[in-house]
Amino acid sequence: MGTGIGFGKAILFNEHFVVYGIPAIVSAVGAQTTASVEQKSGSGYKLNDERPETPGYKAEKLQQQQESLEIMLKFMGIDTEHHHYDITLSGNLVAASGVGASAASCAAIARAFSQELGLNFSDEQVNVAAYEGEKGYHGTPSGIDNTAATYGGLIWYKREGSAQLMERMRIRKPVEIVMGNTGKVSDTKTIVAGVKDRKERQPERYERLFRDADHLVRNARKELEAFNLENVGAYMNENHRLLQEIGVSSPELDALVKWARDAGALGAKLTGTGKGGYMVALTPGQDLQDRVANEIKRYGSQVVRTLIGV
Ligand code: MEV
Repeated sequence: MGTGIGFGKAILFNEHFVVYGIPAIVSAVGAQTTASVEQKSGSGYKLNDERPETPGYKAEKLQQQQESLEIMLKFMGIDTEHHHYDITLSGNLVAASGVGASAASCAAIARAFSQELGLNFSDEQVNVAAYEGEKGYHGTPSGIDNTAATYGGLIWYKREGSAQLMERMRIRKPVEIVMGNTGKVSDTKTIVAGVKDRKERQPERYERLFRDADHLVRNARKELEAFNLENVGAYMNENHRLLQEIGVSSPELDALVKWARDAGALGAKLTGTGKGGYMVALTPGQDLQDRVANEIKRYGSQVVRTLIGV
């Protein structure tokens, strides 16, 4: 049996803007998806999805998951005519919107096939296969999610035409974050298309917002690398405002952001696709992390305590 992992992620700056070549910052979080693949006699494949989930997520994503798997199998040249494959997904990453669940599963599946069939995929090959798999979910992914899922760590990411550029970022020490789940599943394809539509209808306004997002992330990078976390938090707040302006937040996300800030988080914003999924709050130190996590839990939200920059 072959196995492989993919990292869950939190986008700290510039989801959506990244689709248009604006840089973004993403960090892996301390939860992963594991895939196992077993080659058997027969043909076809069977996917057994044992990941924990936000209720409804797997059912809602089932068709996209199948599409994604078909694309990946074809791309990796897997022969499903003369062999059968049992594929199982598990791990501690909750299958939910906003944490890179689809990308983590794609990277894990690519690694598990590589091990089972002795394909010796490099990380780069895993990343390319996972990017293809992401097309089943996103249509036109920027590549940030599969990059984070494959490599882990803290990453400065920029798309330039068809090139996906990543730089590893280093910070003094890992920082605690809290992620709060709206419990809502969102469809990345539809939400990304909504931004495109609004951008085309209001080009001047969006050009200004995109320019602001570009400046913001460059300043945020400097502050993060200098470990000025108060300033990083302030930039996260400002990034959330820009994301609200391009229409990808929601009342549930805004409420989570407010509760986190009121409880003392240095900054908070939606993370990932938006409209549903997760909020991420910067909460350095165990005490602040606990305080913010407990406050959000009081409102009934499912909470993840984890670290960035590991
Ligand atoms: C989704 O995790 C991130 C988006 O920016 C889409 C993408 O980058 O492909 C919304």
